[in-house]
Amino acid sequence: MRNRATIKILIVDDEQVHRFMLRSMLGEWGWDCVEADDGATAVAAVEQGPFDAILMDVRMTTMDGLEALQKIKAINPAIPVVIMTAYSSVDSAVEAIKLGAHDYLTKPLDFDRLRQAVEVAMRHKQGGEGDQAVSVDPDSGESGMIGSSSRMQDLWEMILQVAPTDANVLITGESGTGKELVASSLHHHSGRSGRPFIRVNCAALSESLLESELFGHERGAFTGADRRREGRFVQADGGTLFLDEIGETSPAMQAKLLRVLQEKELQRVGGQETLRVDVRIIAATNRNLEQEVAAGRFREDLYYRINVVALHVPPLRERDGDVPLLAGFFLKRFARKNQKHTRGITPECMDLLVRYPWPGNVRELENAIERGVILMRGEYLDTAGLPLALQRWAGENESPEPAVEPATLKDAERALIARTLEETGGNRSEAARRLQITRKTLLNKIKSYGLG
Ligand SMILES: Nc1ncnc2c1ncn2[C@@H]1O[C@H](COP(=O)(O)OP(=O)(O)OP(=O)(O)O)[C@@H](O)[C@H]1O
Ligand SMILES: [Mg+2]
Repeated sequence: MRNRATIKILIVDDEQVHRFMLRSMLGEWGWDCVEADDGATAVAAVEQGPFDAILMDVRMTTMDGLEALQKIKAINPAIPVVIMTAYSSVDSAVEAIKLGAHDYLTKPLDFDRLRQAVEVAMRHKQGGEGDQAVSVDPDSGESGMIGSSSRMQDLWEMILQVAPTDANVLITGESGTGKELVASSLHHHSGRSGRPFIRVNCAALSESLLESELFGHERGAFTGADRRREGRFVQADGGTLFLDEIGETSPAMQAKLLRVLQEKELQRVGGQETLRVDVRIIAATNRNLEQEVAAGRFREDLYYRINVVALHVPPLRERDGDVPLLAGFFLKRFARKNQKHTRGITPECMDLLVRYPWPGNVRELENAIERGVILMRGEYLDTAGLPLALQRWAGENESPEPAVEPATLKDAERALIARTLEETGGNRSEAARRLQITRKTLLNKIKSYGLG
């Protein structure tokens, strides 16, 4: 059986944002990815060595996907190629299949379809090795961020731009929006990705514990310090230190942090030795730090140090179209985890999920789906399994009755007359004038439609 960690996929797309999205997705599924930004680079990559599958855009500027496909097939016909194409160019997809592509996907990509297509393609290639060849654990690999809304696309674009730089980043956003995922994405797309990514929750520890956690301590520095311990700054050397909930730190701690950020050196608690560190700082907060600065609760100089680049993670209610995507993703994940068989989400339940404002953002959605899956009786996730708060909200916020469109000309005429009568307060002469018919005709119609 193949080791899933060795599955290697070549992503060919001239748009960096697309490559990034795909890579995040495939990484989440536990697959390794190599990127190529045009057909020629893809062909060169295939010449260098094998891939388990290739995911390729059709329309690219330099060498288009079809030409690249032919060259790739000539070099190594065994590699399955899945083509990605816009709806408007299904013709080229058919052409691609003729040229030996294994399958094609239309954009915007449906991630379930994507995964299925790639899995099937790989199975096909391995032919005979059996179905167990590809098993994927959705909780493994690089943390994938799901979302196709324009707000998330913008965020991705920013992450891509900022990740390779050494700039300190401040991530803001409401609770549960995914700030930690953004921080880890920044690290994984930076030159520091081979070094540690270390997270410290500044709100979880008392001031003295946080100090020794960050800076380490010498043996005997305080009661219970029976040996020397390196701090998180030293552990993160060469990598990234994620200071979560930085808005909760005390003024004294802020002063100490400022010093390390300025001098890039520190001392362990109770120690004399000066340690130099090379650490990129990513901080996050759900407070408005600008306001905290204005109120004198957060040091302005530290604020400017960490806020070299600001990334804002939008609340879930502002991400149009992301809820169904996320709900489907979590449904699969928790169904697998709880060994439940599921076929999807009932329309009524999905309607509620889409309308609900999600004050706790993605985390709240994740928890709601997990609960729903655990309580699920049939094969579909239904409102009955959702948290009571959501059900209560649904009771108070009925979805508006959809206006019934008249199906026939008669129905339409009847509705128009009734409305006009309503608007004129039952004044038939006025109604006839507005409808541009005689009063007599109107009276006849009122009678025949039973509107009297
Ligand atoms: N776009 C996303 N796709 C998939 N999962 C997500 C996404 N955004 C958030 N999550 C999941 O939602 C949960 C909350 O995310 P995270 O912990 O990053 O939020 P946060 O902004 O740091 O919240 P807090 O301010 O409460 O610490 C996590 O389980 C995370 O994996
Ligand atoms: Mg967090």
